[in-house]
Amino acid sequence: MPDSTAGSLLAGKVAIVTGAAHPKGIGHAIAVAMQRQGATVISSDLSGAVGLQENNGIACDVTDRQQVNALIDHVIEQHVRLDIVVNNAGIGIGGPDFLALTDQEWDLSLNVNVRGVANVCQAAIPHMRANGGSIINVASLAGIGAMASIPACYTASKFATVGLTKQIAAQFAADQIRCNALCPGSVVTQMHESVLATLAEQHNISLEQAQAMENSAIPLGRSARPGEVADAAVYLASDLSLYVTGTTLPVAGGMSPGL
Ligand code: NAI
Repeated sequence: MPDSTAGSLLAGKVAIVTGAAHPKGIGHAIAVAMQRQGATVISSDLSGAVGLQENNGIACDVTDRQQVNALIDHVIEQHVRLDIVVNNAGIGIGGPDFLALTDQEWDLSLNVNVRGVANVCQAAIPHMRANGGSIINVASLAGIGAMASIPACYTASKFATVGLTKQIAAQFAADQIRCNALCPGSVVTQMHESVLATLAEQHNISLEQAQAMENSAIPLGRSARPGEVADAAVYLASDLSLYVTGTTLPVAGGMSPGL
Protein backbone atom coordinates (compact mmCIF):
# COMPACT_ATOMS: atom_id res chain seq x y z
CA MET A 1 0.00 0.00 0.00
CA PRO A 2 1.54 3.39 -0.92
CA ASP A 3 2.41 5.75 1.93
CA SER A 4 0.02 8.69 1.47
CA THR A 5 2.27 10.91 3.61
CA ALA A 6 5.36 10.33 1.44
CA GLY A 7 6.63 13.12 -0.78
CA SER A 8 9.74 14.76 -2.11
CA LEU A 9 9.75 18.16 -0.41
CA LEU A 10 13.17 17.41 1.11
CA ALA A 11 14.68 15.20 -1.58
CA GLY A 12 18.47 15.33 -1.64
CA LYS A 13 18.70 17.16 1.70
CA VAL A 14 20.70 15.98 4.71
CA ALA A 15 19.13 16.69 8.10
CA ILE A 16 20.15 16.33 11.74
CA VAL A 17 17.53 16.09 14.49
CA THR A 18 18.64 16.25 18.13
CA GLY A 19 16.73 14.69 21.02
CA ALA A 20 15.05 12.32 18.61
CA ALA A 21 15.22 8.99 20.41
CA HIS A 22 11.96 8.78 22.25
CA PRO A 23 9.48 6.95 19.98
CA LYS A 24 6.61 9.14 21.21
CA GLY A 25 8.58 12.39 21.19
CA ILE A 26 8.43 15.37 18.84
CA GLY A 27 12.02 14.81 17.60
CA HIS A 28 11.30 11.26 16.50
CA ALA A 29 8.16 12.42 14.68
CA ILE A 30 10.16 15.14 12.92
CA ALA A 31 12.86 12.64 11.88
CA VAL A 32 10.23 10.28 10.46
CA ALA A 33 8.35 13.06 8.65
CA MET A 34 11.54 14.43 7.09
CA GLN A 35 12.61 10.97 5.98
CA ARG A 36 9.20 10.48 4.33
CA GLN A 37 9.83 13.68 2.38
CA GLY A 38 13.06 12.28 0.98
CA ALA A 39 15.68 13.68 3.38
CA THR A 40 18.58 11.66 4.71
CA VAL A 41 18.03 12.06 8.45
CA ILE A 42 20.62 11.60 11.18
CA SER A 43 18.98 11.38 14.59
CA SER A 44 20.78 11.91 17.85
CA ASP A 45 20.02 11.84 21.54
CA LEU A 46 21.69 11.23 24.90
CA SER A 47 23.49 7.90 24.96
CA GLY A 48 21.40 4.95 26.05
CA ALA A 49 18.11 6.70 25.33
CA VAL A 50 15.15 4.63 24.19
CA GLY A 51 14.77 3.83 20.52
CA LEU A 52 18.23 4.92 19.32
CA GLN A 53 19.00 1.63 17.57
CA GLU A 54 15.69 1.49 15.72
CA ASN A 55 16.29 5.03 14.57
CA ASN A 56 19.99 4.67 13.63
CA GLY A 57 20.67 7.38 16.17
CA ILE A 58 24.02 8.77 17.23
CA ALA A 59 24.67 9.44 20.91
CA CYS A 60 25.28 13.12 21.55
CA ASP A 61 24.76 15.27 24.62
CA VAL A 62 24.13 18.72 23.13
CA THR A 63 25.60 20.43 26.20
CA ASP A 64 28.99 18.86 25.44
CA ARG A 65 30.77 20.74 22.66
CA GLN A 66 33.15 17.86 21.92
CA GLN A 67 30.29 15.45 21.39
CA VAL A 68 28.45 18.00 19.24
CA ASN A 69 31.53 18.64 17.08
CA ALA A 70 32.02 14.87 16.68
CA LEU A 71 28.38 14.48 15.59
CA ILE A 72 28.66 17.21 12.94
CA ASP A 73 32.06 15.91 11.74
CA HIS A 74 30.58 12.43 11.41
CA VAL A 75 27.66 13.73 9.34
CA ILE A 76 29.94 15.67 7.00
CA GLU A 77 32.30 12.69 6.62
CA GLN A 78 29.41 10.36 5.78
CA HIS A 79 27.11 12.66 3.81
CA VAL A 80 29.36 15.55 2.64
CA ARG A 81 26.69 18.22 3.13
CA LEU A 82 24.29 19.45 5.80
CA ASP A 83 21.10 21.30 4.86
CA ILE A 84 18.71 21.04 7.81
CA VAL A 85 19.34 21.22 11.55
CA VAL A 86 16.51 20.61 13.99
CA ASN A 87 17.41 21.57 17.55
CA ASN A 88 14.70 19.60 19.27
CA ALA A 89 16.57 18.33 22.37
CA GLY A 90 15.06 20.05 25.36
CA ILE A 91 14.32 19.63 29.01
CA GLY A 92 11.39 20.66 31.16
CA ILE A 93 12.29 20.58 34.83
CA GLY A 94 11.43 22.50 37.97
CA GLY A 95 8.05 23.32 39.44
CA PRO A 96 5.79 26.32 39.06
CA ASP A 97 7.00 27.80 42.39
CA PHE A 98 9.60 30.34 41.26
CA LEU A 99 10.96 30.79 44.77
CA ALA A 100 11.77 27.08 45.07
CA LEU A 101 13.78 26.68 41.85
CA THR A 102 17.22 25.21 42.43
CA ASP A 103 20.62 26.00 40.90
CA GLN A 104 20.55 22.61 39.24
CA GLU A 105 17.17 23.28 37.63
CA TRP A 106 18.35 26.65 36.30
CA ASP A 107 21.68 25.28 35.06
CA LEU A 108 20.19 22.26 33.30
CA SER A 109 17.38 24.27 31.68
CA LEU A 110 19.75 26.91 30.33
CA ASN A 111 22.47 24.42 29.37
CA VAL A 112 20.20 22.15 27.34
CA ASN A 113 17.61 24.59 25.98
CA VAL A 114 19.97 27.47 25.17
CA ARG A 115 23.63 26.43 25.17
CA GLY A 116 22.76 23.10 23.54
CA VAL A 117 21.09 24.92 20.63
CA ALA A 118 24.03 27.33 20.36
CA ASN A 119 26.58 24.49 20.43
CA VAL A 120 24.89 22.66 17.56
CA CYS A 121 24.49 25.86 15.52
CA GLN A 122 28.12 26.88 16.05
CA ALA A 123 29.32 23.47 14.86
CA ALA A 124 26.85 23.16 11.97
CA ILE A 125 26.76 26.63 10.39
CA PRO A 126 30.30 26.57 8.90
CA HIS A 127 29.22 23.48 6.91
CA MET A 128 25.92 25.04 5.79
CA ARG A 129 27.35 28.23 4.34
CA ALA A 130 28.23 26.70 0.96
CA ASN A 131 24.65 25.70 0.08
CA GLY A 132 22.48 27.63 2.55
CA GLY A 133 19.95 25.74 4.64
CA SER A 134 17.34 25.78 7.35
CA ILE A 135 17.77 25.68 11.13
CA ILE A 136 14.68 24.92 13.17
CA ASN A 137 14.83 25.48 16.90
CA VAL A 138 12.05 23.78 18.82
CA ALA A 139 11.22 26.42 21.40
CA SER A 140 7.73 26.49 22.91
CA LEU A 141 4.69 28.67 23.33
CA ALA A 142 6.49 29.34 26.62
CA GLY A 143 9.15 31.08 24.52
CA ILE A 144 6.61 33.72 23.48
CA GLY A 145 4.63 34.29 26.67
CA ALA A 146 4.45 33.27 30.33
CA MET A 147 1.90 31.08 32.10
CA ALA A 148 1.80 30.64 35.88
CA SER A 149 1.78 26.83 35.70
CA ILE A 150 5.07 26.63 33.75
CA PRO A 151 8.46 26.62 35.56
CA ALA A 152 10.20 29.99 35.22
CA CYS A 153 13.49 28.30 34.28
CA TYR A 154 11.71 26.68 31.31
CA THR A 155 10.04 29.93 30.16
CA ALA A 156 13.26 31.93 30.53
CA SER A 157 15.27 29.31 28.65
CA LYS A 158 12.75 29.09 25.79
CA PHE A 159 12.62 32.91 25.46
CA ALA A 160 16.41 32.69 25.11
CA THR A 161 16.02 29.99 22.44
CA VAL A 162 13.81 32.42 20.51
CA GLY A 163 16.36 35.25 20.95
CA LEU A 164 19.14 32.99 19.73
CA THR A 165 17.00 32.00 16.75
CA LYS A 166 16.50 35.62 15.71
CA GLN A 167 20.20 36.42 16.22
CA ILE A 168 21.29 33.51 14.01
CA ALA A 169 18.67 34.46 11.40
CA ALA A 170 20.02 38.01 11.32
CA GLN A 171 23.67 37.01 11.21
CA PHE A 172 23.49 34.29 8.56
CA ALA A 173 20.74 35.50 6.22
CA ALA A 174 23.43 36.62 3.77
CA ASP A 175 24.52 32.96 3.54
CA GLN A 176 20.92 31.92 2.78
CA ILE A 177 20.78 30.11 6.11
CA ARG A 178 17.30 30.54 7.52
CA CYS A 179 16.59 30.08 11.21
CA ASN A 180 13.12 29.85 12.72
CA ALA A 181 11.64 28.83 16.07
CA LEU A 182 8.86 26.28 16.19
CA CYS A 183 6.64 26.93 19.19
CA PRO A 184 4.43 23.99 20.17
CA GLY A 185 1.77 24.50 22.82
CA SER A 186 0.61 21.22 24.29
CA VAL A 187 1.81 18.05 22.57
CA VAL A 188 1.09 14.52 23.76
CA THR A 189 4.61 13.30 24.65
CA GLN A 190 6.51 12.10 27.69
CA MET A 191 7.27 15.73 28.62
CA HIS A 192 3.59 16.57 28.41
CA GLU A 193 2.81 13.86 30.97
CA SER A 194 4.89 15.67 33.58
CA VAL A 195 3.20 19.00 32.76
CA LEU A 196 -0.19 17.35 33.32
CA ALA A 197 1.03 15.79 36.58
CA THR A 198 2.04 19.26 37.84
CA LEU A 199 -1.32 20.71 36.85
CA ALA A 200 -3.13 17.83 38.57
CA GLU A 201 -1.10 18.32 41.74
CA GLN A 202 -1.57 22.10 41.72
CA HIS A 203 -5.34 21.81 41.48
CA ASN A 204 -5.70 18.54 43.39
CA ILE A 205 -7.43 16.86 40.44
CA SER A 206 -6.94 13.66 38.41
CA LEU A 207 -4.77 13.47 35.27
CA GLU A 208 -7.92 13.16 33.15
CA GLN A 209 -9.36 16.27 34.77
CA ALA A 210 -6.04 18.05 34.20
CA GLN A 211 -6.16 17.14 30.49
CA ALA A 212 -9.77 18.37 30.29
CA MET A 213 -8.73 21.60 32.00
CA GLU A 214 -5.89 22.05 29.52
CA ASN A 215 -8.18 21.25 26.58
CA SER A 216 -10.56 23.98 27.70
CA ALA A 217 -7.73 26.51 27.21
CA ILE A 218 -7.05 25.31 23.66
CA PRO A 219 -9.41 26.74 21.02
CA LEU A 220 -9.04 23.59 18.88
CA GLY A 221 -10.02 21.62 22.00
CA ARG A 222 -7.16 19.13 22.27
CA SER A 223 -3.41 18.68 22.56
CA ALA A 224 -1.40 18.14 19.37
CA ARG A 225 -0.07 14.85 18.10
CA PRO A 226 3.74 14.92 17.61
CA GLY A 227 3.18 14.39 13.87
CA GLU A 228 1.28 17.67 13.65
CA VAL A 229 4.33 19.53 14.98
CA ALA A 230 6.51 17.53 12.59
CA ASP A 231 4.46 18.75 9.61
CA ALA A 232 5.25 22.35 10.57
CA ALA A 233 8.95 21.42 10.85
CA VAL A 234 8.84 19.96 7.33
CA TYR A 235 7.38 23.25 6.08
CA LEU A 236 10.15 25.28 7.76
CA ALA A 237 12.82 22.92 6.41
CA SER A 238 11.52 22.92 2.86
CA ASP A 239 11.64 25.43 0.03
CA LEU A 240 7.97 26.19 0.76
CA SER A 241 9.32 28.56 3.42
CA LEU A 242 12.29 29.88 1.42
CA TYR A 243 11.38 33.50 2.26
CA VAL A 244 10.69 32.87 5.97
CA THR A 245 13.39 33.54 8.55
CA GLY A 246 13.70 34.87 12.11
CA THR A 247 10.11 33.96 12.94
CA THR A 248 8.33 32.11 15.73
CA LEU A 249 5.69 29.71 14.48
CA PRO A 250 3.15 28.69 17.13
CA VAL A 251 1.75 25.20 16.56
CA ALA A 252 -0.61 25.41 19.47
CA GLY A 253 -4.21 24.96 18.36
CA GLY A 254 -4.81 28.67 18.91
CA MET A 255 -3.75 28.53 22.58
CA SER A 256 -2.73 31.84 24.11
CA PRO A 257 0.93 32.10 25.15
CA GLY A 258 -0.11 33.98 28.27
CA LEU A 259 1.48 37.26 29.32
P1 NAI B 1 10.84 14.43 25.21
O1 NAI B 1 11.32 14.52 26.62
O2 NAI B 1 10.10 13.22 24.75
O3 NAI B 1 12.05 14.71 24.20
C1 NAI B 1 13.15 15.51 24.51
C2 NAI B 1 14.38 14.73 24.11
O4 NAI B 1 15.53 15.55 24.37
C3 NAI B 1 14.54 13.44 24.93
O5 NAI B 1 14.63 12.32 24.05
C4 NAI B 1 15.82 13.67 25.72
O6 NAI B 1 16.61 12.49 25.86
C5 NAI B 1 16.53 14.69 24.84
N1 NAI B 1 17.54 15.44 25.60
C6 NAI B 1 17.42 15.99 26.82
N2 NAI B 1 18.59 16.54 27.20
C7 NAI B 1 19.46 16.32 26.17
C8 NAI B 1 20.82 16.61 25.96
N3 NAI B 1 21.55 17.25 26.89
N4 NAI B 1 21.40 16.23 24.79
C9 NAI B 1 20.68 15.58 23.86
N5 NAI B 1 19.38 15.24 24.00
C10 NAI B 1 18.78 15.63 25.16
O7 NAI B 1 9.97 15.74 25.00
P2 NAI B 1 9.17 16.32 23.77
O8 NAI B 1 7.87 16.71 24.31
O9 NAI B 1 9.23 15.45 22.58
O10 NAI B 1 10.00 17.67 23.53
C11 NAI B 1 10.75 17.97 22.37
C12 NAI B 1 10.97 19.47 22.33
O11 NAI B 1 9.70 20.13 22.25
C13 NAI B 1 11.64 20.04 23.58
O12 NAI B 1 12.58 21.04 23.20
C14 NAI B 1 10.48 20.65 24.35
O13 NAI B 1 10.91 21.69 25.20
C15 NAI B 1 9.60 21.13 23.23
N6 NAI B 1 8.20 21.32 23.59
C16 NAI B 1 7.40 20.28 23.99
C17 NAI B 1 6.06 20.50 24.29
C18 NAI B 1 5.13 19.41 24.72
O14 NAI B 1 3.97 19.68 25.08
N7 NAI B 1 5.53 18.14 24.72
C19 NAI B 1 5.47 21.85 24.20
C20 NAI B 1 6.39 22.85 23.75
C21 NAI B 1 7.70 22.59 23.47
